[in-house]
Amino acid sequence: MPRLQYRKVLESIPSYIPGKPIAEVKQEFGLENIVKLASNENPLGCSAKVPEAVRDFMDKAALYPDGHCRELKAALAEHLGLDPEQLAFGAGSFELISLVTETFIAPGDEAVMPVPSFGWYRTATQLMDGTVIDIPLIKHKIDLARIKSSIGARVKIIWICNPNNPTGTIITGEELVGFLREIPPHIVVVLDEAYYDYVTDAGYPESAGLSAEYPNVIILRTFSKIYGLASFRIAYAISNAENIRHLNKVRQIFNVNAIAQVAALASLQDPDFRKAGQQNNIKGKCYLYQVFEELNLEYIPTEGNFVMVNTGLNSTEVYQRLLEKGVIIRPGDHFQMPTWLRISIGTMEDNRAFAKAFKEIIS
Ligand SMILES: Cc1ncc(COP(=O)(O)O)c(C=O)c1O
Repeated sequence: MPRLQYRKVLESIPSYIPGKPIAEVKQEFGLENIVKLASNENPLGCSAKVPEAVRDFMDKAALYPDGHCRELKAALAEHLGLDPEQLAFGAGSFELISLVTETFIAPGDEAVMPVPSFGWYRTATQLMDGTVIDIPLIKHKIDLARIKSSIGARVKIIWICNPNNPTGTIITGEELVGFLREIPPHIVVVLDEAYYDYVTDAGYPESAGLSAEYPNVIILRTFSKIYGLASFRIAYAISNAENIRHLNKVRQIFNVNAIAQVAALASLQDPDFRKAGQQNNIKGKCYLYQVFEELNLEYIPTEGNFVMVNTGLNSTEVYQRLLEKGVIIRPGDHFQMPTWLRISIGTMEDNRAFAKAFKEIIS
């Protein structure tokens, strides 16, 4: 019997490993209380304005969403000081990353990415039959010089994750502009700024304005992190109108559901919630740094809502032992950092629960 012919490229694409869900850990270990610090979610939830807006929306549930997110787009453009034509929306940055590859990668084209960094850049590129050029980090930071020198004739996209997931390091504005000046204008530079709102370093670029001077720049930001809307799936791209027009050709017309649009709009109207998330993150990261210093462990100071620590031990084993104690984090072997852990910053209660379990294991 003839068999189904899966696309050849799928053989080399591993299944994506997301953070372990709470329900699975509860069931596996017979535990009631779980602390999940594995997916860089917002431990404060979302703005109280969101459930209100979603409830008000419910009588329109039978209608298709606005495929152009007009109301949200207008509000966001005003919030960012941009033209609405410079914005496109996706069902999370995951989808936007895929849309960028669908827009620019033809079979055999190449994309350059730092390693370790966000894994979907690789998968999305490969799904378009593109090839990925890996550039290792240097001192946990993206190595712009090596990225630049790796550019050959078939490179179409450069992925820059800023702050970088999983290391939490940033490229400064000065470094970024120096880099952009030297990149040929036919190569798209994607700045994935999923953790933009958590950055405290004054050298971090205010990149939204760059798309006017550098038409090859596409910036990605999300409502999943500081706004706490990860379950609704909504993110946006900032670029010039021409790039946005092309991204919009590729996306499905109703890619962003109406509830996500309503929730994102409500979130924009609650700056205090955003501030509370930033403050919680600063407090949490200082606390975790202190825990690691007490244990004499190396860690990477972070500009994101997660932090990496080097346990010197096998990260999968430490991960497993933390799971047994009801704490879910990410083992570094997912990122080719086999003795490291990535811990999302939680509420202070979550952080303390992690620290207690972690100290028991480490000592
Ligand atoms: C760097 C980076 N980009 C994109 C994403 C995907 O986010 P979204 O929920 O917007 O799809 C994540 C999620 O953790 C991320 O860390």
